[in-house]
Amino acid sequence: MTFTLPDLPYAYDALLPHMSKETLEYHHDKHHKAYVDTGNKLLAGTDLEGKSVEEVVKAAFGKNQPLFNNAGQHYNHLHFWQWMKPNGGGAVPGALEKKIIADLGSVDKFKEDFIQAGVGQFGSGWAWLAVKNGKLEIMKTPNGENPLVHGAKPILGVDVWEHSYYIDYRNRRADYLKAFIDNLVNWEHVEKLFNEA
Ligand SMILES: [Fe+2]
Repeated sequence: MTFTLPDLPYAYDALLPHMSKETLEYHHDKHHKAYVDTGNKLLAGTDLEGKSVEEVVKAAFGKNQPLFNNAGQHYNHLHFWQWMKPNGGGAVPGALEKKIIADLGSVDKFKEDFIQAGVGQFGSGWAWLAVKNGKLEIMKTPNGENPLVHGAKPILGVDVWEHSYYIDYRNRRADYLKAFIDNLVNWEHVEKLFNEA
């Protein structure tokens, strides 16, 4: 199996006013496409060809940095498009809400700490809500890294590379993260991953 670029699960202008058409065109059509194309070039002829993206990410970590960077970013963006939806945000589904309260204090505390993880990630990277050893954890990672390579399963992630927000928010990363959590998160997709974790 080689990597393929999926279509966005909504129209390019569907996330307005929180994320613009221009941002999604560049982010999906240029940035994600480049990870797919470069990843496929680096995969060709290796013994990882034919493996799932998750397997490639884990196997390449610490061993083949260029392949890891592109495979990691492919995995991260595959989910990132699905972690958003038009008119997103709102109430956290019941079972997941209970787990957030049990492991992270409260939904408000989770939102605050998740935003803080994104703000506190120096340079490019991601902030995450992940399941590790049966418990929810907030994590942050640099560049294309993700919780998969730290023994955890990501159920929500937000891209804090500048390409994700600079057109719409300039340097105001915290405002982008607040808009993401309040207005964009597709909690049904998060719940689905939580149930599978
Ligand atoms: Fe990105």
